[in-house]
Amino acid sequence: MAIEIIPTGAALGAEIRGVDLAQPLDDATFAAIERAYDEHGVIFFRGQHVTPPQQVAFTRRFGEIEFNIFGERWSVPGSPEIVVVSNVTEDGRPIGIRRAGENWHSDMCYTARPPRGTMLYAREIPDLFGLPLGDTEFASAAAAWSALPQALKERIEGRRAVFDFRGRKRAFPPTQAESDRYPPVTHPIVRRHPHTGRECLYVMRDDCIGIEGMEPEAAETLIAALADHVVKPAFIYRHQWRSGDLLMWDNCAAQHRAIQDYDLPLRRVMHRTTMGGSVPA
Ligand code: SIN
Repeated sequence: MAIEIIPTGAALGAEIRGVDLAQPLDDATFAAIERAYDEHGVIFFRGQHVTPPQQVAFTRRFGEIEFNIFGERWSVPGSPEIVVVSNVTEDGRPIGIRRAGENWHSDMCYTARPPRGTMLYAREIPDLFGLPLGDTEFASAAAAWSALPQALKERIEGRRAVFDFRGRKRAFPPTQAESDRYPPVTHPIVRRHPHTGRECLYVMRDDCIGIEGMEPEAAETLIAALADHVVKPAFIYRHQWRSGDLLMWDNCAAQHRAIQDYDLPLRRVMHRTTMGGSVPA
């Protein structure tokens, strides 16, 4: 079956059909997938049946695996590369990170070399009366940049924001030792995408705690204005999950948040892998 790429019609995102990720992919098919990924920022494949090693192998084709600190507590047994994102508790213990990513963010932006992208494989999706819950929203940071007024573009180009691991509120707060592994870092507010060359806004409310060379109050106001701009409805694709979806997003071109509109006994179980990236420039 030939590969088909169907844009969502939103500012980002495309569905890819005609690919079975449980089978080995030839180089031409992989190249088409990677091009779609760079072009659309979010891509997804419906109806997949992949094992943890298959997901890890597919992730590795995009770059080395990036180990997430939360995987040290919640990974798939036998596959330390896969972090479990879930609201499920078994024998009194959570099987994964609960309420992960409920506020707009870009993964691991608090590190010096944030990951290229993240892959989420839907194992169990909650639904109510047949209506799926637990959607994920994605915002195009490239479209948001393009839509800024020229004067504001000139004002922020070349500026760097301070990102702090402790800025984000988490359902499972990190320990002091975990926080100590991530001292604050700075990144350009306007990033050039390493593969497409497109400029992308790289600023979010919780993780960004300041802007270099700017008074704290002015920086806070500018961060809030830019962060709110990125997530305007015009730049958003909202993914309604089905179990068997494998979706991946680009952490430079897109920000995302998980909608927490479900609770036990409705179960959501996702397997997440992350691929290494480059120093933002
Ligand atoms: C995340 O931010 O990695 C979680 C996204 C989701 O569970 O939908």
